Amino acid sequence: MNKSPDAQRMEKIVSLCKRRGFIFQSSEIYGGLSGCWDYGPLGVELKRNVKNYWWRVMVHERDDVVGMDGAILTHPEVLKASGHVEGFSDPMVDCRTCKARLRADQVIEKKGIRQCPNCGGRDLTEARPFNLMFQTQMGAAADESSIAYLRPETAQSIFVQFKNILEVSRKKLPFGIAQIGKAFRNEINPRNFTFRSREFEQMELEYFCRPEEGMELLEYWKEERLKFYENIGISRDRLHVKTVPDEERAFYSKGTYDIEYDFPFGRQELEGVAYRTDYDLSQHQKASGKSLEYFDEETKQRFVPHVVEPSAGVDRTVLALICGAYSEDEAPDEKGKMETRIVLRFHPRMAPIKCAVFPLLKNKEPLVSKAQEIVNFLRPHMNVFYDESGAIGRRYRRQDEIGTPFGVTVDFETLGEKDAALRDTVTLRERDSMKQERVPVKDLPGILVSRIS
Ligand code: GAP
Repeated sequence: MNKSPDAQRMEKIVSLCKRRGFIFQSSEIYGGLSGCWDYGPLGVELKRNVKNYWWRVMVHERDDVVGMDGAILTHPEVLKASGHVEGFSDPMVDCRTCKARLRADQVIEKKGIRQCPNCGGRDLTEARPFNLMFQTQMGAAADESSIAYLRPETAQSIFVQFKNILEVSRKKLPFGIAQIGKAFRNEINPRNFTFRSREFEQMELEYFCRPEEGMELLEYWKEERLKFYENIGISRDRLHVKTVPDEERAFYSKGTYDIEYDFPFGRQELEGVAYRTDYDLSQHQKASGKSLEYFDEETKQRFVPHVVEPSAGVDRTVLALICGAYSEDEAPDEKGKMETRIVLRFHPRMAPIKCAVFPLLKNKEPLVSKAQEIVNFLRPHMNVFYDESGAIGRRYRRQDEIGTPFGVTVDFETLGEKDAALRDTVTLRERDSMKQERVPVKDLPGILVSRIS
């Protein structure tokens, strides 16, 4: 069967990710660990750029948000109070024929008869809840008292530390606590590359407020989060806001939006923005017996704050960036013949490498040493890459394929051999337009920093 253009595109993206060192399957040499991924040298830079920019706009550029970094291993009482031990599950069905374990919504129903999507078998178990949390044992004893969980979301440690952070930060409502970190879910069917993983990272903000502010802040955060995606180069027409209907929303939420993205495998959730009322803090207050109330100096009232939560996935954002950036166009090779060029059109702010520096020829020492001097000159400002091997066109192409927005070439004019006026100038090439301009070396940091920050 012919693959759809979207499926072919996804295959090319996955293959590029491996070939160029963005994302590898975890434990690949042992056959792979399902639902787990390792980020290579370029992937880790891209991921860091996403997280750093999120932290910059959500924490550093605001007076009303502080950060925290909580433990991954979580006390079972925390997750009992939050409802995860009891209710964080997917209904699951086993196929007795091929032994596949399926999410109930993946079972095919034909003329009222349930069928396994894997083997077509009809001998299926009834749906049973399957808890998605990873349970582990702490300490030497192996009994009930030693159970701990790998956190299924970063949010709970924020709620549990609410009182401490309120006291040390001396913030007044409304204010938020932000966290970026790993979360773990034993997904029944990890799929679509990194989209549904068992180990992933979240970027979560719990924004505490007065009850009467909740609905307005839900709108506010939805808009802020859409701006974030646009500012990292995700096109607005690929983003969609879904209002989660009453029947799909958590019972305690008064309003939830899903921010969705058009991936090659379909429209899928990137982030949830939820007004969770006072549910989480009230649950922890009840279960711990410790007051999590806020005292309002002005009204002299004591109450449990409400919360609006924008919760985004790092890995899904990285995947959306790669999928959106992947493109193919035509460019001339060294002999002027047109060939297909693969380009990752990352926003310069997100690109793993910001600028590549090339000496025109590798066997001309003055060109090489000048290029290396420029690398050292730019390094304090950005991630730079030096490349001297192969024809210059090939070197450009290698950088286009990993999304490097700028290329600097050191040639004989830089050395002042052709025209003294051009001494200490270089060509600066822009990835998307492939246009080149001649700029003085001393101006490079200013020009580049203004285009990448
Ligand atoms: N604290 C709320 C919460 O965790 P969620 O909708 O379950 O809400 C938030 O998760 C975000 O975390 C999702 O929008 C998604 O970006 C990311 N996420 C959730 N499960 C994931 C998985 N299995 N793989 C990758 N990312 C995931």
